[in-house]
Amino acid sequence: MEFYTKAGSPEKQKSGCLVLGVFNGKKLTLSGEQADGEAKLISKILKRGDLDEKAGSALMLPHLPGVAAERVLLVSLGAEKTFNAKAYRSAVTAAAKAVNAAGVTEASFGLLDVAVPECDMQWAARTLAIALGEAAYRFTAWKSQKDGKPVLQKAYVFTPDAKALAMVKAGFTEGDAIGEGMNLTRELGNMPANICTPTYLASQAKSLAKAHKLKVEVLERDDMESLGMGSMLSVGRGSVEPPKLIVLKYSGGKASDKPVVLVGKGVTFDTGGISLKPGAEMDEMKFDMCGAASVLGVMKALALMQLPINVVGVIPATENMPSGSATKPGDVVVSMSGQTIEILNTDAEGRLILCDALTYSARFKPEVVVDIATLTGACVIALGGVASGLMANDDALAAELLESGQQAGDRAWQLPLWDEYQEQLKSNFADIPNIGSKGAGTITAACFLSRFTKDYRWAHLDIAGTAWKSGAEKGATGRPVPLLVQFLINRANPGTRSKRAS
Ligand code: BES
Ligand code: MN
Ligand code: ZN
Repeated sequence: MEFYTKAGSPEKQKSGCLVLGVFNGKKLTLSGEQADGEAKLISKILKRGDLDEKAGSALMLPHLPGVAAERVLLVSLGAEKTFNAKAYRSAVTAAAKAVNAAGVTEASFGLLDVAVPECDMQWAARTLAIALGEAAYRFTAWKSQKDGKPVLQKAYVFTPDAKALAMVKAGFTEGDAIGEGMNLTRELGNMPANICTPTYLASQAKSLAKAHKLKVEVLERDDMESLGMGSMLSVGRGSVEPPKLIVLKYSGGKASDKPVVLVGKGVTFDTGGISLKPGAEMDEMKFDMCGAASVLGVMKALALMQLPINVVGVIPATENMPSGSATKPGDVVVSMSGQTIEILNTDAEGRLILCDALTYSARFKPEVVVDIATLTGACVIALGGVASGLMANDDALAAELLESGQQAGDRAWQLPLWDEYQEQLKSNFADIPNIGSKGAGTITAACFLSRFTKDYRWAHLDIAGTAWKSGAEKGATGRPVPLLVQFLINRANPGTRSKRAS
């Protein structure tokens, strides 16, 4: 998406659609008043009450005399008194959807002329850019007929306040990068598992590295064997697809800056293995590599923004299949850390690959480590598709991630990692079992991981409910790329944090 900042009169800008904000279903903002001119046609239309007051409602006017744009989209900002970040986000999201539904390729926006309480202009511009990037995404790779309407390519954004120009531009750079990162994450998530194999993820990481001058290394089965990654390798044993451990490095910071390490679960298809899953909706287990895809998406966003920070991405990638060579319930494996694991359920495979990737991550002398994984069905039950689950061995790190999620509109919710839950992990035959006793499945999965993260500050994001949508809108969401990039933006620029927004 290309963004152009504009000054002057919105009604004179030629484009497919001019978008204007409206308070209380009736009241235009500054750009709207300018476009309304002497004739006040828009105000007259609004007086009829055709636009719902609820933030995010929209009314498309196919043509308006005196306005150079082909159409005018009126979008509701809700009640002026209660206007906040949430209402602004609903409005820009609705506007982005409506212009793409209309097949407009160039649109102009008069939405930056209202101050969003507790948020700065950079945040407002970033939020608009993310919404536009998200709405312009279509998964068309496997559709023979590419007959959908065209998507938005150019956005002209009116910036009434010249002083805010630098912040608006910075916000667009960030928002565009986040949108691009999310769309890479979605594309990889949506790709079917017969294409998106561990080998495919490795080749995607290599192309990303080539395009953006990142360092990349792909460890093969032999390398993992030499490292003693018995837990990681136990998961792919039933598959003909070779497992890969992908390591990507983005070095935007000083050589002496310790990196943030992001570890993403990359199970390219999770059948459950010998503990086979039931058939219903099993197709959705192609999304079990969305943690990995989010790490690649973040790397792309960082490179596009040139953020001054060092980040290492670590992606254990494998399939989880049943076969004569597959791991069986009751098998015992030795992890890279030396701890032995009794695999009581081969469907609890995410933690088995993450634990070795987490042990491996210590070699980067990390500032902090964050893993991202579609880890437990229990997290979908607890939090649904609204919030990602967050657990950490460090409350300051947890607080940072929660705050980033609020700012980015990509929220997480913390669950406790208390010692009492660790008691649920007991094995008669090895150091630890790979599943806990009944109850608190999301937490006991994190407790398992915590046994491998003693040497550094660590947080775990369970994105089982947030990484994709089911039903008619089935598809990857690109979450939690916005949360993670916001977290890295905040870390790269301490002190200049833009304010919170819910
Ligand atoms: N990938 C699944 C988790 C999952 C399930 C995500 C459904 C989204 C929707 C994970 O590998 C898994 O199978 N977890 C098991 C763990 C259990 C065997 C302890 C689960 O949650 O059922
Ligand atoms: Mn599983
Ligand atoms: Zn899984």
